[in-house]
Amino acid sequence: MRSKKIVRLNANENFYGCSSKVLDAIRKKIPEVNFYPDYHPSMLESEIAKRLNLLSSNIVAGAGSVRIIEGLIYSLVNKNEEVLTFDRSFAMYRIITEGQGKVCRIAKQKDYINDINNLLPLVNKKTKLIFIDNPCNPTGTIISHKSIEKLLKSIPSSIFVVLDEAYSEYVTDKSYPDSRKLFENFPNLIILRSFSKMYGLAGMRVGYAAGNEKTILKLKESRIPYPLNYLAIDASIAALEDEKFVSESRKKNDAERTFLYDGLSKTNLRTVASQANFLFVHFDHNMEKENLFASLLTENILVCDLSIFGFDKCLRIGVGDRKINTKIIQCASEI
Ligand SMILES: Cc1ncc(COP(=O)(O)O)c(C=O)c1O
Repeated sequence: MRSKKIVRLNANENFYGCSSKVLDAIRKKIPEVNFYPDYHPSMLESEIAKRLNLLSSNIVAGAGSVRIIEGLIYSLVNKNEEVLTFDRSFAMYRIITEGQGKVCRIAKQKDYINDINNLLPLVNKKTKLIFIDNPCNPTGTIISHKSIEKLLKSIPSSIFVVLDEAYSEYVTDKSYPDSRKLFENFPNLIILRSFSKMYGLAGMRVGYAAGNEKTILKLKESRIPYPLNYLAIDASIAALEDEKFVSESRKKNDAERTFLYDGLSKTNLRTVASQANFLFVHFDHNMEKENLFASLLTENILVCDLSIFGFDKCLRIGVGDRKINTKIIQCASEI
């Protein structure tokens, strides 16, 4: 008997796959994989730069934005300096910082939001790098253009602020920062993006940072040769070109995110309104969380039990299509 395919809603990948143009680009390149890729992925960097109206010297690409995060901490933060982020944020900021023997200070969120007012009092002479994921993983919430501007105005320009916009393409809220515009006035701002989410290329491992030339040069100098594989470079360029795929995925996600949020909000569970492609659900008791996780799994739906990242009593549930979301709501209402 063949077992049913698991619906993976645990890692915030694009539920709808990737663009068919990306698959065509990959197929075209497969017969040439005996060759090394570009020593530096300059073609991709220049395609990204064009879209941001920047120079390729402002862009560094790497094997997933997590590699860029590692490079930022490695090349910008000395041993006696500190990283600052929020308690519920992408766990890798803290894990990588501590892995490099450096200190990561943690500010508290307010109502599941990365509240700048809680972060500012923790800025000190040792602070060198601030990571803000916007939307935040795991809560899906965003902070506004005004909040980021306030932060940038309140701190010395010697502190780098990394705005991690891995899920930016999913955002529909108009208060979302125009980070490119902010960069004009604040050269200590670094914009971080990923091809793993909306572009559907998680398996290809591609991410990038945009920042001032001096900072980007440091990152380029510290990366290994051939940072992106042969297929990933062309796949990412094709992904950038297919704007229709992005806008259609955004539209579908937006409608289904609302449907899932409304449905879950009618149950007893505390669900946080999200701007990403996942929802954060907080439980009063661990047992409730485990029951929902298990009942979804019997329906072949895999979600993320956030205890693996040290967040207790909560699940992160990726947004699926109408059929899947209806099943999730039904399971949640039976808890
Ligand atoms: C906020 C955030 N930043 C960065 C990443 C890393 O993405 P990748 O390394 O696949 O580009 C993730 C992955 O889940 C994420 O949620």
